[in-house]
Amino acid sequence: MKPEIVCLMMSSLDGGLHPSKWTESPDGGRKEWTALYQKAHEELQGDAWIVGRVTMAEMAKGEAHPPKSAGSVERPNHFADREADNYAIALDTSGKLHFTRPDIDGDHIVVILGSEVPDTHLAELAADGISYIVSPSAEIDLPAVLDVLDKELGIRKLLLEGGAAINGAFFAAGLIDEFYLLVAPALDGSSGQPVVTFDGGLAGKTQLSLISAETMGNGAVALRYKVHA
Ligand SMILES: NC(=O)c1ccc[n+]([C@@H]2O[C@H](COP(=O)([O-])OP(=O)(O)OC[C@H]3O[C@@H](n4cnc5c(N)ncnc54)[C@H](OP(=O)(O)O)[C@@H]3O)[C@@H](O)[C@H]2O)c1
Repeated sequence: MKPEIVCLMMSSLDGGLHPSKWTESPDGGRKEWTALYQKAHEELQGDAWIVGRVTMAEMAKGEAHPPKSAGSVERPNHFADREADNYAIALDTSGKLHFTRPDIDGDHIVVILGSEVPDTHLAELAADGISYIVSPSAEIDLPAVLDVLDKELGIRKLLLEGGAAINGAFFAAGLIDEFYLLVAPALDGSSGQPVVTFDGGLAGKTQLSLISAETMGNGAVALRYKVHA
């Protein structure tokens, strides 16, 4: 079974994802809007949150430190903690992420990898106290992995928190139940920057209908949409 998935994002009015590049507003600023995003994250009460490799790299700043020999390595799954209050999950197909600790702000890290990831990388993650799931295929099989998260870790509600690349992949695969977008009164305006989703086109792949639109303070609005696969 698949967990319920809510895609939670904060963007400028033109879909930009980097608050540091946004215009200023007399209504509020990056600090206030980020606090509103954090509040929405808490209120949604997910069992876990998931991000792409690029987004997780901003939080995981470790260097590669694989063991000389992999030894015996568990495949496809290794769970270092099945009782965590919350899980921080990253999609990292080829094993580019390296960590310095097994949690992000207390949330236990789970890395999802493609089947071609080397054993030495899995051994590094296990030695760091990190859990992992290896997809049955070279590219990550999202439905298969979501099933493992549900069955093995009891994840019933998952917050999909970007970036644009993995949001696009989840939308295109029809896996999202709700899209929660916090829009700040700002413009990004920089060309070539990621916008809320990126997949080379989603027309015909998904449909949205409005659940609610709420003003949140500091000039921000929360737009919530039901996503129809
Ligand atoms: N404003 C917000 O609410 C918000 C939230 C989150 C992130 N962000 C920003 O978004 C930016 C990153 O966005 P991004 O789109 O560049 O990257 P991303 O979605 O964070 O990561 C994309 C990477 O994830 C890996 N991946 C694994 N499976 C995938 C799949 N099925 N589909 C797509 N990617 C998959 C790939 O890594 P490999 O290339 O290694 O294969 C891919 O390059 C960051 O700068 C971050 O600050 C903003």
